Amino acid sequence: MTKIKIDQRFSPYQMPSVIIGTIVDEKPNFMLCTWVSRVNRNPPTWMASINRKHYTMNGIRENRVFSMNFPSANLMQLADYIGITSGRAADKSSLFTIFYGETNAPMIEECVLNMELEVREMIEFPDHFIVLGNAVTSYIDEENMTDNRPDMKKMNPVIYTGAEKQPTYWTLGEKIGDAFQLGKEFKKLKT
Ligand SMILES: Cc1cc2nc3c(=O)[nH]c(=O)nc-3n(C[C@H](O)[C@H](O)[C@H](O)COP(=O)(O)O)c2cc1C
Repeated sequence: MTKIKIDQRFSPYQMPSVIIGTIVDEKPNFMLCTWVSRVNRNPPTWMASINRKHYTMNGIRENRVFSMNFPSANLMQLADYIGITSGRAADKSSLFTIFYGETNAPMIEECVLNMELEVREMIEFPDHFIVLGNAVTSYIDEENMTDNRPDMKKMNPVIYTGAEKQPTYWTLGEKIGDAFQLGKEFKKLKT
């Protein structure tokens, strides 16, 4: 196989689509964020990379709490809208049904999974802040559970890819195998 060099800013294909919620200027505000990842097991710590110019950053700096809300495929039109519209230009506070948990981070009822997080640390990069937050509480819609476990098919989560010329949203495809098990089968074959 021939490997070719590509632009090193190329983003690969699997990124979550997460709606970040904050209170800014005393109003709930939401933005779409795909540069998101879990970074520590215990305490459960997450990172979101957020452009320093975003209105959202004002709220995170001030309150030191924020939410991560995971939308299903059916919410993506609205999710995309809040990803192209700043809270400085439009009031995004009444687009969703909002609920609160133990902090004043606004969470979205229409999302299948919600987390409220306390800021642990913010790392400054030239154009983004890496915001590290510890999850205080997580919520899931009861109807998306099967046998007491979250059911990915029911949740219908969204993947974003910036890999193609026109960035796109995708839903999950077929399950291809069991994690932590496929390797065991390979181990058995080797011995
Ligand atoms: C698909 C998509 C992914 C995005 N991912 C990020 C991201 O990871 N980090 C970021 O800072 N902005 C990201 N944005 C841009 C913000 O969501 C957008 O600038 C938003 O209007 C900021 O809102 P605010 O000014 O109210 O905070 C993304 C937008 C879209 C449409």
